[in-house]
Amino acid sequence: MTMWWETPSLHLPCWARAFKSTTLMTIQATAPALFSRRHLLTCEGLTAPEITSLLDLADHAAELNRQVNKKRDVLRGRTLINLFFEASTRTQASFELAGKRLGADVMNMNVSTSSVQKGETLIDTAMTLNAMRPDMIVVRHHAAGAVELLSQKVDCSVINAGDGAHEHPTQALLDALTIRRAKGRIAGLTVAICGDILHSRVARSNIHLFNTLGARVRLVAPSTLLPTGIERLGAEVFTDMWKGLEGADIVMMLRLQRERMQGNYVPSTREYYHFFGLDQEKLAQARPDALIMHPGPMNRGVEIASAIADHSRSVIRDQVEMGVAVRMAVLEALARKLPNH
Ligand code: CP
Repeated sequence: MTMWWETPSLHLPCWARAFKSTTLMTIQATAPALFSRRHLLTCEGLTAPEITSLLDLADHAAELNRQVNKKRDVLRGRTLINLFFEASTRTQASFELAGKRLGADVMNMNVSTSSVQKGETLIDTAMTLNAMRPDMIVVRHHAAGAVELLSQKVDCSVINAGDGAHEHPTQALLDALTIRRAKGRIAGLTVAICGDILHSRVARSNIHLFNTLGARVRLVAPSTLLPTGIERLGAEVFTDMWKGLEGADIVMMLRLQRERMQGNYVPSTREYYHFFGLDQEKLAQARPDALIMHPGPMNRGVEIASAIADHSRSVIRDQVEMGVAVRMAVLEALARKLPNH
């Protein structure tokens, strides 16, 4: 009998650089300027040197963030707007902290009380904000491609903080930084991304980024939660979680994104947890030193057992810490392309 998670499916496609510890100075003073784009919209198309330069810059930021005085003036005089059309805890808070720690003026647009509620479109909203002469806008939107479209209409730098099920580039960068700091490398590691791949922008950004950095990417999900053709991006697909986790160095869990689902993709939460929830038994298939990751927000008891989320090998809180560092690195790198810089 074919089970609901075994029906046919499809997929999506690297580095080799050891983690270098460097002497702590200012972020800007020590980092190579290899990333010279105006916007950060996707991980697709980023080169290994570009990614590595951002991770190196973020490494310095991570050390700065552990000091009592976290404030720098790299972005003094600059204005950063956070424009989030979807809910966020980690991404919005970390971009706000990142901007403030680098000395920028940061404004968080509250979309729920803005003129979006009176029918103003995304583009009109963006062009209105653009007229106030910000230097950078961080955008999260429920429609794939919306952030890139917006970037074509404004004068400032635009950062994609998640567009529909398309991409979430700073999440992939913070995941890579977390792994590089814990493992000392990314090339050659086996990264198993498990759960609702179909609706996940995190999965797509991570597939591109980890492939570019030389890791092996596995996707583990029921076929109902796997996008058609996704293996073409360069990942191996598993609909059996026990097999998908065998020998994995990294186990990255994703939540069921019910807000993007129309209809039933899994028979029940209980059955989903039985076959695809990360518990001690399934984790035992991975390497004994495998890291447990989750971009958050987590649904304990659905895609991950509570004890596993709090396991000694869980780096979920490290991911949150590295989120601030990566966003500081991205803001600083983009600031180099701003006029008068
Ligand atoms: N990982 C992530 O994007 O979390 P938030 O939705 O809380 O920003």
